[in-house]
Amino acid sequence: MIRLAGSLAALLLLVGTLSCQSEEEIKRQRYITEGILLYKTHCANCHQDKGQGLAALYPPIAGSDYLVNKNKVICLIRYGQQGPIVVNGKPYNRPMPAQPQLSDLEVAELTTYLYNEWGGESKVTDVKAVTPVLKQCGN
Ligand code: HEC
Repeated sequence: MIRLAGSLAALLLLVGTLSCQSEEEIKRQRYITEGILLYKTHCANCHQDKGQGLAALYPPIAGSDYLVNKNKVICLIRYGQQGPIVVNGKPYNRPMPAQPQLSDLEVAELTTYLYNEWGGESKVTDVKAVTPVLKQCGN
C-alpha cells in the first residue's frame, strides 16, 4: 500500500512537471513561429535566411560573438546602429536602420528566435523582460 502511494505520488509529480513544461514549450514555439515570420520580413533582406550575413556588407548573426550581450541585441533590433562594429573579428561600418514600428512583443519574439536558432538557447525571452531593457536603451 505504501509502495502504491509512493508510485502514485511519483506519477502525479511527473504529470505535473510535464504539463508545466509543455505550457512553457507551447509559448516558446509560439514566440519562435512569430519570430521566424518577423525575421523574414524585417531582417532577412540583409542578414539572409540562415543568418549568414552578406559578404563584407552585413554581418552574420549565426555564430556571432555579438550575441553574448542580449541587452545590446534587444536595443539594436528597435533602434538600429551606426557602426563601426566588429563581429567575429571582422569590421562592419554600414548603418543598420532603426525599426521603431516593432512592438515590445515583436522584439521579444525576434530575440527568442535569434537565440534559439543561433545563440544556443532553448527558452523564451519574455516580453516582460524585454520592455524594461527597451526603456533603458541609449542610457
Ligand atoms: C538594411 C539592412 C539591415 C536590416 C534590414 C537589418 N540589419 Fe541587422 N545589421 C545590419 C548592419 C549593416 C549591421 C552592422 C551595424 C554596424 O556596423 O553598426 C547589423 C548588425 C546586426 C547585429 C549585430 C551583429 C551581428 O550580426 O551579430 C544583429 C544581431 C542584427 N543586426 C540583427 C538584426 C535583426 C534581428 C534584424 C531584423 C529586425 C536586422 N538586423 C535588420 C543591417 C541590417
